[in-house]
Amino acid sequence: MKIAIIGAMAEEIIALKEEMTIHKSTEIAHVQFYEGKMSTKDIVLCQSGVGKVNAALTTQILIDHFQVTHIFFTGVAGAVEEQLEVGDIIISTSAMQHDIDASPLGFKRGEIPMFPSSSDFKASTELIKLAEESSIASVHRKVLKGRVVSGDQFIANTELVSDLRNTFNAVCVEMEGSAVAQVATLNNIPFVIIRSISDKANGEASMSFTEFTELASEQSRLIVSNMIKNM
Ligand code: ADE
Repeated sequence: MKIAIIGAMAEEIIALKEEMTIHKSTEIAHVQFYEGKMSTKDIVLCQSGVGKVNAALTTQILIDHFQVTHIFFTGVAGAVEEQLEVGDIIISTSAMQHDIDASPLGFKRGEIPMFPSSSDFKASTELIKLAEESSIASVHRKVLKGRVVSGDQFIANTELVSDLRNTFNAVCVEMEGSAVAQVATLNNIPFVIIRSISDKANGEASMSFTEFTELASEQSRLIVSNMIKNM
């Protein structure tokens, strides 16, 4: 077993890096990969950078070069589900790209044209269960399971949020999870995305994101640390 932990930004991985015993650090395609141990488990930790291309590239490197067997994504997200507040937790049941749109060709929004499988990539049921159990012990926040949607856009508009809720039944929005999910699925590697809310993806989203990314990253980190202990 070798567990990959991906975060997009420095704030999302810094505390995990401190928790880890690092044996080796390797740079590939401008991404730094840290190999080592957490709670006796073999870990590869990395910061993918923001957006779906960076996330996809990093995930394929984790699989090909580091032979990881499980993939966890940790980080922050904008709320789509109305009950969610800053610091609350989302465990992905699946992930989709909200910004792929070939509707003029008769495809549904979010559907990847001519793709051999569903475009709603399902997270591992075992890892979802592990995340749920690990969150009970580690955070005192609302924990929701549901569909994560990703796109190469920072969402800061309530109309767009309503659209993501109505079109995709999404619980949160971010910029990497579905790319990790797609690459993991194509390689038959189990994955789960853990996100904590930094903002409500509305007119105040950029201020809220700046203020609460550190706090939200810590909530997500607590669950990931606990998942690794409990594996
Ligand atoms: N990550 C955190 N907040 C976000 C938002 N509002 N839109 C996209 N990604 C995010």
